[in-house]
Amino acid sequence: MRIDEQVIEDIRNRVNIVDVISKYISVSKKGRNYVAVCPFHNDTNPSMQISVDKQIYKCFACGAGGNVFTFVSEFEKVSFIEAVKIVADFIGYDLSAYEMVASPRESVSEEVSRLYSLVKEASEYYTYNLLNSDNEGLKYFSSRGVNKEIIDNFKLGYASDDSSKIIRYLTKKGYSTKEIVDAGIGVLSNGTLVDRFKGRVIFTLTNMKGEIVGFSGRKIDNSDASKYVNSNENVLFNKSSCLYNFFEAKSFILKENTVYVVEGFMDVIALYKAGVKNAIATMGVALSKEHLKALEKLNAKMVFSFDGDNAGQTSMYKMIDSLGSTSLKVVTTGVSEAGKDLDEIYNKSGVKGITSFLNNTYSINEFKFYYNLRKTNLDNFSDKSRFIDYVVKLIKSISSVSEKEYFITLACNEIHCSRDVIEQSIDKKSIKVIEYAGEKHVKANRYDNAEIQALKQMMYDEKAVLYYVQNVGFMFKSDNMKMSAFILEYYYKFHSVNPLKIIEYVKDKDFKVADGLIKVYEMDIPEEFNKSVFDVVKQRSIKVEIDSLLEKRKNCSDLLEATRIASEIAKKKDELREIKTGNGEKKEDY
Ligand code: UTP
Ligand code: MN
Repeated sequence: MRIDEQVIEDIRNRVNIVDVISKYISVSKKGRNYVAVCPFHNDTNPSMQISVDKQIYKCFACGAGGNVFTFVSEFEKVSFIEAVKIVADFIGYDLSAYEMVASPRESVSEEVSRLYSLVKEASEYYTYNLLNSDNEGLKYFSSRGVNKEIIDNFKLGYASDDSSKIIRYLTKKGYSTKEIVDAGIGVLSNGTLVDRFKGRVIFTLTNMKGEIVGFSGRKIDNSDASKYVNSNENVLFNKSSCLYNFFEAKSFILKENTVYVVEGFMDVIALYKAGVKNAIATMGVALSKEHLKALEKLNAKMVFSFDGDNAGQTSMYKMIDSLGSTSLKVVTTGVSEAGKDLDEIYNKSGVKGITSFLNNTYSINEFKFYYNLRKTNLDNFSDKSRFIDYVVKLIKSISSVSEKEYFITLACNEIHCSRDVIEQSIDKKSIKVIEYAGEKHVKANRYDNAEIQALKQMMYDEKAVLYYVQNVGFMFKSDNMKMSAFILEYYYKFHSVNPLKIIEYVKDKDFKVADGLIKVYEMDIPEEFNKSVFDVVKQRSIKVEIDSLLEKRKNCSDLLEATRIASEIAKKKDELREIKTGNGEKKEDY
């Protein structure tokens, strides 16, 4: 983009440098002028002076100085032209007329430059096609509340089912088949050039500099398979350097000092409808180094707002983890009752719903706490102790006393336990011990109980050990599994069992496991071998296998493979039934 000197001068005259600088740093009035702590060196006194008359700034300590554009360009680490654009946006100065004037790109070859023009023309074609014919795309968009203003703003479009028109259009404009393919639009199918996005509505993608680099096409029907098709990775487009709406949102992000990071195109658009223009979408990929660098430059508070379903929350969890120890302020929104994502929330409860949803934010620690809590079944003994384990670790990692206090209270309320449990656990080195000590108070899970009972029997009764080896061989809880392994080790060595001797033996090898065995030893439960206890343990391992097979089948698109998995599931279910009937009545209580 090239902007006339005159226009730059015009923008400079209309803006007050003090307003712009005070958006970034705090300034204070001193006589006719203003002073500020200089952001360009390690300043402690306000060494920077801002002259209202001359509309310039100057630091008397480090020498930095210049006009409003210099300040923005230095502060944001962007080019001069980008700084002009940011300042223009700040005062609402319309630069759209100048965006059309393409400046010759320095380091880009003529061939690549032609590809940039090609995708730009294609984008315009898709939008024209969407707005100027009776088509499925327009119906689709209007059914989702997307109007002309949004279509223009986001450069939305429609790729007709019949792709010959766009191919002809681009060919007429002088582009070769190779160029149409290289730009990610054309695909050769049986010798014919067709549009990769045909029959789909189009989202135009720009890079961090605002140049159009590719597209994403959404299916119009609602079948889930390949809902979106993106441009292939090519010389213009690569996912790690694109963030949807980044360039377009930039000035709003700077104005608000906040960026909303969401999952999907339609979420960005929903926020736009609600008047929130400082949103970007990650397009279903992890944040790359490049993404992070761009975000860090903006120095804005990041508000993560991913879908409320498991997939969305989990990828938000991973994304936040990937930020590491960023200096940026990061918060998240919660999980809404009004809908799975922002689009649904907007449709159900409008601007008000969006605003209150966005304003109800959680710190990273709160987000992680609730995320793990949602994954915990508090009625399940081992689940619950795993969660306590997690919370204790979380609290230990917090340095602020008041925040620690906040989480102890939160944990007690949510877990329904006394402060002692949490506080003592924070002091203890190993909380594994507490898991068993807590047994009396917690309604234990049937399977976990069976494992504990089986361990007890194995410590006393050789028959139990043999039955376990021949028929079960597996405990679900890793602590129990470890204990059983040590009992077996003892048995193979000494060809007998005896609880105290086993504990003595294990003590020298693994203190924690020995501790667990002591707890089991001290429990008031039967010692004689009882086959049905072991069968319950076995049931669980089969159920776990069935669950993983079901999951596998769900994600399997190959019919043959799916059939094979289904028969495996049937076999496992038979096995399960056999155990149950072999046991007579199914016993629910242990
Ligand atoms: P979503 O499925 O949440 O998209 O995927 P969405 O924008 O909310 O779409 P609607 O509301 O169903 O129309 C989040 C993002 O992941 C990427 C897209 O960028 C999408 O916006 N994605 C999703 C793909 O790239 N390919 C896919 O098949 C699905
Ligand atoms: Mn979504």
